[in-house]
Amino acid sequence: MLKRIVVMCSGGGSNFQTLIDGCNNGAINGRIVRMISSAKKAYSIERARANGIEALAIHKNDYPDTAALDRARHEAIMQAEPDLVVLAGFLGIVPLETVRALEGKILNIHPALIPSFCGKGMYGQRVHQAVLEYGAKVSGATVHFVNEEIDGGPVVFQKCVPVLEGDTVESLADRVLEVEHELLPKAVELFCRDELQINGRIVSQKLPG
Ligand code: GRF
Repeated sequence: MLKRIVVMCSGGGSNFQTLIDGCNNGAINGRIVRMISSAKKAYSIERARANGIEALAIHKNDYPDTAALDRARHEAIMQAEPDLVVLAGFLGIVPLETVRALEGKILNIHPALIPSFCGKGMYGQRVHQAVLEYGAKVSGATVHFVNEEIDGGPVVFQKCVPVLEGDTVESLADRVLEVEHELLPKAVELFCRDELQINGRIVSQKLPG
């Protein structure tokens, strides 16, 4: 039975595309039933349309306050009856009621090695800027389950990349993005095969059989 997947995006959607490809080529035992964008115009919406995936833009400026925005996002997610929600370059915060309803079924990709360079306000290029300013020698990407603490849920996968002399935010972001594209679909594949198990903070892979 294919898992029902909802993907949340904010930008270009290159991570989203890896999930589309994985579902299309059968590597992911799932079907993306809805994409929810926090931006009205984003290439991720074009990617959804090109693949027959329903795309909803739920933009904060269309709502009087955060409570109304959260309610709209929560309803849009729950109406799709997801087995899994994937935050793929999503710059918003998942509504608390969604986290509580679906804890253990929401995955996020973060462009750094959590618990470093993460948390409130740490997203997108800001992350790489902070890594360079700190003088860190490695960075990388993290896939984790989402809980009530921003970027605080149990870690599924991490992989390092070197920070090189002369790196810019762009060159480091590109190197990290390559690793994101490797880790996120792998985590979704395992989730959709029911091969991820969580014990407290520890995520391990269930061996088949
Ligand atoms: C990437 O930098 C990723 O780290 C972050 O959002 C940015 C855009 O990702 N999560 P995408 O191309 O929209 O997937």
